[in-house]
Amino acid sequence: MKATAVAHANIALVKYWGKRDEARMLPEAASLSLALDRLRTTTTVELGDFSADSFTLDSRAEDPSRARALLDAAGIRQRARIESRNEFPTAAGLASSASGFAALAVAAAAAAGLRKTPEELSALARLGSGSAARSVPGGWAVWENESARQVFSPTHWDLRFCIAVCADGEKQVGSRDGMRSTRETSPYHGAWIAQCRRDLPAALHLLAARDLPGLGALAERNALRMHADALAADPPLLYWQPATIACLQALRALRSSGVQAWPTIDAGPHVVAICAPADADAVEGRLRSVPGVTELLRCAPAGGATLLP
Ligand code: DP6
Repeated sequence: MKATAVAHANIALVKYWGKRDEARMLPEAASLSLALDRLRTTTTVELGDFSADSFTLDSRAEDPSRARALLDAAGIRQRARIESRNEFPTAAGLASSASGFAALAVAAAAAAGLRKTPEELSALARLGSGSAARSVPGGWAVWENESARQVFSPTHWDLRFCIAVCADGEKQVGSRDGMRSTRETSPYHGAWIAQCRRDLPAALHLLAARDLPGLGALAERNALRMHADALAADPPLLYWQPATIACLQALRALRSSGVQAWPTIDAGPHVVAICAPADADAVEGRLRSVPGVTELLRCAPAGGATLLP
């Protein structure tokens, strides 16, 4: 009746930005991501005869409706008491829905005594948040249809991901609304989706070959093209802060001095720099000195969602 699971958030190198089916939470194009060790969420689900569902995130009460949709889809009718804890600064706006819904899917199925395959758990997590489908298998994961699958293990390639937290800024438009409005109003959206369909096979090839300059440059282009698509929405979606652009420039300068590091950016202001472990100190030191960067978090590859004993 009660179970606890942990899961890691992930960063996409080929991003998901657009749904082909909103009700079923299916993406227009396949995406590729890596789970990150320090972006960890622990979620406990208790099922019982409670008067209503409840959901707390870091001890704050949250709306349980998205979690309920996931429980309903799993056939769980009992009320749920859900407690989620992020081991990273949510206040800074780092993505937590992926790790949160992945941990919720695994914990809820276990609490209800349901035997689910990893694919079924990924499909369940997807109903909470699309990117959560990729946090269930963890490692390098590809998501295209109902569920995501791990295509390379976290040990395939020892990389570092330095997250520069770029100010809190004003409240942004969330991914759900942002990608809907982009799909409906951006004249560039068709080109963006076509690009992702070309980027995925190229990225998998570069990943298999552990080609950092190739994959890093592809990830930077893919992220900037996603933002170009969002910028072209009506009303425009501008997720960046001055520190975001300063980080992009800083990474460019680092590369011209021989340090290999490339950026990616989700639907927010923070910059995630991809580099080899040997370069992580230099990258972190440089990004830390960028005005407006309030915090740095260095991550390594992580595995999938797991149930705690
Ligand atoms: C920019 O998975 O948060 O991080 O499926 O509507 O819940 P919903 O959106 P969400 O979107 C993630 C968007 C992204 C890119 C990515 O992670 O692939």
